[in-house]
Amino acid sequence: MHSKILILDFGSQVTQLIARRVRDAGVFSEVHPYDVSDEFIKNYGAAGIILSGGPSSVTEGDTPRAPMAVYEAGVPVLGICYGMQTMAEQLGGKVENGLVREFGYAEVRARGHTALFKEINDFVTSEGHGMLKVWMSHGDKVNEMPPGFKLMASTDNCPIAAMADEERRFYAVQFHPEVTHTLQGEAILSRFVHEICGCQSDWNMPDYISEAVASIRAQVGDDEVILGLSGGVDSSVAAALIHRAIGDKLTCVFVDHGLLRLDEGKMVMEMFANNLGVKVIHVDATAQFMGHLAGVSDPEAKRKIIGREFVEVFQVESGKLSNAKWLAQGTIYPDVIESAGKGKKGSHTIKSHHNVGGLPDTLNLKLLEPLRELFKDEVRKLGVALGLPHSMIYRHPFPGPGLGVRILGEVKKEFADLLRRADAIFIEELRNTMVDPNAEKLQSWYDATSQAFAVFLPVKSVGVMGDGRTYEYVVALRAVQTQDFMTAHWAHLPHELLGKVSNRIINEVRGINRVVYDISGKPPATIEWE
Ligand code: XMP
Repeated sequence: MHSKILILDFGSQVTQLIARRVRDAGVFSEVHPYDVSDEFIKNYGAAGIILSGGPSSVTEGDTPRAPMAVYEAGVPVLGICYGMQTMAEQLGGKVENGLVREFGYAEVRARGHTALFKEINDFVTSEGHGMLKVWMSHGDKVNEMPPGFKLMASTDNCPIAAMADEERRFYAVQFHPEVTHTLQGEAILSRFVHEICGCQSDWNMPDYISEAVASIRAQVGDDEVILGLSGGVDSSVAAALIHRAIGDKLTCVFVDHGLLRLDEGKMVMEMFANNLGVKVIHVDATAQFMGHLAGVSDPEAKRKIIGREFVEVFQVESGKLSNAKWLAQGTIYPDVIESAGKGKKGSHTIKSHHNVGGLPDTLNLKLLEPLRELFKDEVRKLGVALGLPHSMIYRHPFPGPGLGVRILGEVKKEFADLLRRADAIFIEELRNTMVDPNAEKLQSWYDATSQAFAVFLPVKSVGVMGDGRTYEYVVALRAVQTQDFMTAHWAHLPHELLGKVSNRIINEVRGINRVVYDISGKPPATIEWE
């Protein structure tokens, strides 16, 4: 069994980052709502507990508190921001409603030599004080420590910026060690989980594979499993993992709606069916999708049709596999955390079927979600450890409706064929062009962008080629850089690269005589054009 750290979520935007940092330190950690029961805390078996930040104020009546069992469990506790304030309040200190919010960069002075900060600092002042460069984001602050606590750090604005009761191993920091702006954040969290909680670094992918394989076998026994394989990272890694566990008892269904990238079907079949020996049913449903999309130009209507037909095809195919008892999905941990009912006792309602666009319950299958404990970067590491190619695992995301939202207006097969080829040229050039060819560690423009693709514009413009006039379609190129896909910047691709892509598309894809580059950010534009 792994040692594990329990993170109680008080609603901060960055709670997930705490779990990721702890896992980066090689220690398994899970996020649960702050109002889990005392029973839950007692039975969980945490080696340490972290209380996250949150938007509430402990100075107001009915705001979140940690279960008292947290402080009675006999394990180290680390409070962060709101977590520090609730710890102070619950253990007999005082919190004052701050008149001025403190938001952003701050330098805190470490005081006393606590186990949490010992020898961790960014610089030392001329008087010999260790200083930390940190990220603050709070209104309230602790103005009286609970009995037994001593001062661990302070700033001018926030005299009690961190405190500790080292006997009970309770630590609390007003700043956010989980964000990268806090330069020593990783070192502090690593110190907490390793030295203070005593956890080993036992969270690694090779071990995880054998555990996950054993747990899948235990879960499904001799039953058969079906999985909708999309070629995306999550479903691909889930397929490879389940196949490792149960081999031939897994059948994947790969639905080609005719709106996939160039050679996607071939690539998926080669990878899974030929290389890994996974049973894959390849359904070419192009005609069915194109038939239903004919004459429809409204983006939302198109999305609905594609989603509906997808379910239809999947249902027909899975209906043929009469022995299947399980439906496998590539649900990952952020989906699980986000769909957990916040603030409701013990509720962890899971967003089912999110990957295959709402498969109806009439399938009568039990859900198998072997990635539900993993963050995206862990899913990628797992994929590589399972032998999937790096180029597949680190691909840009591709939307479920595929080229259907990249062909503006009515979708036609001929448009999809042109777009696929233009898109492939763009991606090939991004992969082949290095951001800095002289850099020690080369990075391609593909890896330097978060998502890049071509969009088909169903308008014709006039051009000349050779001696003749042309009157053909336009393709727009889109490349963005983003952390979370909620906001995005357009990528400043080099002009030579754009020029080369434009030349190649116009020369190689007959039917397109003009290429434009999209220089809109999100907001106000979205990443996809529809
Ligand atoms: P937007 O266009 O909203 O896209 O800025 C944000 C991210 O979401 C992806 N996207 C989708 N993914 N089904 C999906 O599976 C969809 O209908 C869909 N629409 C947008 C988009 O590719 C981008 O990564």
